[in-house]
Amino acid sequence: MNRDRLAQFFNRFPVNLAVILLCALWLLPTFGLFITSFRPQEAVNSTGWWTALASTRPGRGAYQQFCAECHGDSYNALPNADLTNPDLIGTFRRSLNLAATFNREYNGVIHIPEDKRPNPQETADILDHLRIVSGLQAPPAQFTIANYKDVLVGYDARGGTYDEACAADGATGTRTCDFLTDATAPNAVFRGMLNSFAVAVPSTIIPILIAGFAAYALSWMDFNGRRVMFALLVGLQIIPLQMVLVPIYRMYTDLGLNGTFLGVWLFHTGFGLPYAIYLIRNFVGRLPSELFESAYLDGANHFTVFRRIVLPLALPAIGALAIFQFLWIWNDLLVALIFLGNSAPVLTYQLSQMVDSLGGGWHRMTAAAFVSIIVPLIIFFAFQRFFVRGLLAGSVKG
Ligand code: HEC
Repeated sequence: MNRDRLAQFFNRFPVNLAVILLCALWLLPTFGLFITSFRPQEAVNSTGWWTALASTRPGRGAYQQFCAECHGDSYNALPNADLTNPDLIGTFRRSLNLAATFNREYNGVIHIPEDKRPNPQETADILDHLRIVSGLQAPPAQFTIANYKDVLVGYDARGGTYDEACAADGATGTRTCDFLTDATAPNAVFRGMLNSFAVAVPSTIIPILIAGFAAYALSWMDFNGRRVMFALLVGLQIIPLQMVLVPIYRMYTDLGLNGTFLGVWLFHTGFGLPYAIYLIRNFVGRLPSELFESAYLDGANHFTVFRRIVLPLALPAIGALAIFQFLWIWNDLLVALIFLGNSAPVLTYQLSQMVDSLGGGWHRMTAAAFVSIIVPLIIFFAFQRFFVRGLLAGSVKG
């Protein structure tokens, strides 16, 4: 028994190891981005995310290497040169001033011989470190939620964070410094999230509702040309979205639908329908016909059968489809860019603008990335059971 288990474990070991390694490979960069998204800008610009976990500072290492030998681990081994004394450290305003002491002679001995001196960068790090040790300077915050705040507000000034700017200048221009008001302002990213919902929810519900009816009709109602119609619908799926952008844009201009939610809903409905009908029909068409016959015999009409029998049974397929449709619209930039643009900017649009104006401020992009995946993640975990069952839609009989 025990030996069997052991053998089994070792048989599977290579596979398990490979899976674990792949997961690590896949998750590590994401984990790094996640840590980075919580680090302040100065930290992101000067050190890697892994240092945030170890909390080592470059100045500490350099001090140990070049100064600890005489000044000691606790900085105050030499009573006349107590490096924890803010009055002493305060006299060195720049690292050059500190470097100037290296040439001096104390009791006839040169402070630091030339071949043992730290280079300018290390000297700067050491001075930074001594400033913190002597209490002249607060240690830099390791973690902050400032990036997330900046992202949600869509605050894009280079210097400082939204909180700092508000503390310094208060409300100016369109900025009220009330977080909720600013986050729901027309150009804020949080508002973009709300707009994304306003686009994605109806664009998911409308096509799936229509597709449900169509799938039922195409599989259980008798009328002429049923098969041709279905074949046409399946064929429609090959039309690339990019091909119809311009014609529909011109049509929408005539109809006054550009820049409206209705326009985007209709577009997504049009493009979601063929696949939705195809998928739901495959599922509904395979339900056993006895179900329907007995229902019809009992006098049920089509709508009752659809609502009472088909809808509950097709729920896994519909659920999986809804997840796919929602995620695809949530992540869509092209359609939203062309039909909504900045009249009602959605999340993806806001994020793409951010790359433009914040080429250097990528610490904010890391936070933005997590803001944008939070909704897909919630959806995925909430509807996971549909996802697995629905993906198998039609693949197993009986
Ligand atoms: C070889 C031993 C030695 C090393 C290495 C050394 N120091 Fe010193 N340091 C001294 C001595 C000795 C004094 C003079 C103490 C006194 O005045 O009695 C001194 C004085 C100082 C002072 C006070 C200067 C002033 O204006 O009074 C500072 C600041 C200082 N050291 C910084 C450093 C830093 C930073 C490093 C590392 C980069 C360093 N020291 C490395 C021995 C050393």
